Amino acid sequence: MDITHIEHIGIAVKSITDSLPYYEKVLGLKCYNIEEVADQKVKTAFFKVGQTKIELLEPTSEDSTIAKFIEKKGEGVHHIAFAVPDVASALAEVEAKGVQLIDKSPRGGAEGLHIAFLHPKSTGSVLTELCQ
Ligand code: CO
Repeated sequence: MDITHIEHIGIAVKSITDSLPYYEKVLGLKCYNIEEVADQKVKTAFFKVGQTKIELLEPTSEDSTIAKFIEKKGEGVHHIAFAVPDVASALAEVEAKGVQLIDKSPRGGAEGLHIAFLHPKSTGSVLTELCQ
């Protein structure tokens, strides 16, 4: 697979509003976009760190996977997203290598990206996203 860089790191937070001061006032990053992704039941906030982004994920519903994650594990790192030139072909490649997939085909994510998740059972418990 041809991973070019870490596209973003997803961090589960209870509240983007409450989390912003740390990222902006302490780390000095600038939030350049806040966007709701309805089908994932999350609100996202983005910061650029070089070529990589930090993506804060706030649940917008109690049955959001992010709400369940926070309930189980608390706030913190939720997933790592690798940039690949072609998500569909990368998925086919990892599936052929025996990796269990959450998404059999790419779907729409925040910022107009095509994304797909690999199952943590196959990735050493690190929820892994491929995006393009
Ligand atoms: Co993501």
